[in-house]
Amino acid sequence: MRVATVLFGNDRKKLAFASVKFDEWTDFERLLTDSERRVAGGFASEKRRTEFFAGRVAARLALTELHGSESVTILNNDAGVPVVSNEKLAVSISHSEDIAVALAFESDFSFGIDIQIIRAKSVKALKRLVTEKFVPDDAMHLTVAWAIKEALSKCLKTGFTIPYEEFLLADFIKNRNLFECTFVKYPQYIGRAVLWKNYAIAIVGNKEYMADMEIENLLASF
Ligand SMILES: CC(C)(COP(=O)(O)OP(=O)(O)OC[C@H]1O[C@@H](n2cnc3c(N)ncnc32)[C@H](O)[C@@H]1OP(=O)(O)O)[C@@H](O)C(=O)NCCC(=O)NCCS
Repeated sequence: MRVATVLFGNDRKKLAFASVKFDEWTDFERLLTDSERRVAGGFASEKRRTEFFAGRVAARLALTELHGSESVTILNNDAGVPVVSNEKLAVSISHSEDIAVALAFESDFSFGIDIQIIRAKSVKALKRLVTEKFVPDDAMHLTVAWAIKEALSKCLKTGFTIPYEEFLLADFIKNRNLFECTFVKYPQYIGRAVLWKNYAIAIVGNKEYMADMEIENLLASF
């Protein structure tokens, strides 16, 4: 489990990050509310239940870091967006393999997070999804680019329900362990990603707020 915070904007607002490995807890359910447990009860697979629980635990840890301890429920709206019962607060959640990550922030802002495991066998599928010629076509770079696109889809709150061209990258810059992308259709947003073990972790947010944010430190804490 990791929790970290960075400040952004002129009035130094907080963006909180948390990660949870599935094997760190044996009793995720205990931390959730009845309505969250009811939702999870409807899932067909144990894996889906575990990632749903772990995502909520990560979101709660991030919310506590942002706002202090408070009892909240996090349910998904019809579009899948995780909605916090305290409407002043918002979260973004992602899970991959055995890890869940979450961001918490005030609901006046929008951020998206994504974590993807890097696998050589995914290259073929990723090449169909990441068509930008400037992205090197190996598993690591394609996964980073894909994670940035997924994080944008969460920042926009649409998921991939809108045309795929909406997620086209304008560039793909690598600076040591940090990747940075802008978007053809959404010049107001920027995506940043880091590698951690065999995962790519991406965050997308408004350029204005990401500019002075020490996102490397946030993600490096992972
Ligand atoms: C949003 C989306 C990109 C997430 O991708 P994913 O492969 O499920 O991967 P992740 O683990 O990274 O993210 C899942 C989390 O994204 C969040 N999420 C789902 N839809 C979201 C949306 N529209 N906006 C913001 N966040 C969303 C949820 O918190 C979800 O976790 P939870 O259900 O446990 O709460 C994808 O689900 C999507 O495009 N959904 C819309 C289209 C759809 O429903 N397709 C059917 C499945 S193919």
